Amino acid sequence: MKRLTVPAIQRRKASGATGEPLVMLTAYTARQAQLLDPHCDMLLVGDSLGQVIYGLPSTLSVTLDMMCAHGAAVVRGSYHSVVIVDMPFGSYEGSPQQAFASASRIMAETGAAAVKLEGGQAMAETIAFLSQRGIPVMAHIGLTPQAVNALGGYGARGRSQEEHAKIVADGEAVQRAGAFAVVIEGVIEPIAIALTETLEIPTIGIGASARCDGQVLVTEDMLGMFERTPRFVKTYESLADVIGAAAARYAGEVRERSFPGPDQTYQPK
Ligand code: KIV
Ligand code: NA
Repeated sequence: MKRLTVPAIQRRKASGATGEPLVMLTAYTARQAQLLDPHCDMLLVGDSLGQVIYGLPSTLSVTLDMMCAHGAAVVRGSYHSVVIVDMPFGSYEGSPQQAFASASRIMAETGAAAVKLEGGQAMAETIAFLSQRGIPVMAHIGLTPQAVNALGGYGARGRSQEEHAKIVADGEAVQRAGAFAVVIEGVIEPIAIALTETLEIPTIGIGASARCDGQVLVTEDMLGMFERTPRFVKTYESLADVIGAAAARYAGEVRERSFPGPDQTYQPK
């Protein structure tokens, strides 16, 4: 199967509300990518790996080194999906030039097809700078986790009129700047619906609306690896229970010396 391309993703917007929604999940490792790839259109190497893989309290201390290492693993493990790598906090906000240096390193070291960055109007110049230089950009607006200290938490955005207007303006600005798609996270549903109707680029919702042009979730959230997840997560499997139960069985068999058994040991001929 040939790998999908960024223009192919963008064209899926043309199919509109009756078309087939775009499917995106996060992936951080090669094996995870292999398992998810056949079911997805896009794999996102999200900076959520800070919490999910590294146990960090937020995404703020995720580094370019981490994103490059995991991005390369996901590209190696996938054949079909478009791979998009998050630009980590501090690697792009300083200037369009800084963003280009970081994004080009991500593209060169991982083989990914695009980068994602957080921000709307404030990042428009940077999005234009990158996309005019051969780096497709997915924007991310609404609840932007890298701005948690400014936002004061991870609650849904857009409940005040002022914030509602700002998020709509952010969506319009990233489209004008040349973003090929936009993630809309944690906003009241009418904002997601309005942006999906008015924008010509695909909207990818997370905590947004089923009417978006596509959806994304953090894979480990969707698989039930964590006890506490945001309200917008639907748990499709309870992997934490499955893993815990397997570890308990292994531990029990080791302690009673029933593992390894005859099938797992070597004997002389
Ligand atoms: O880092 C991430 O996983 C993300 C998605 C949740 C959109 O940015
Ligand atoms: Na992210």
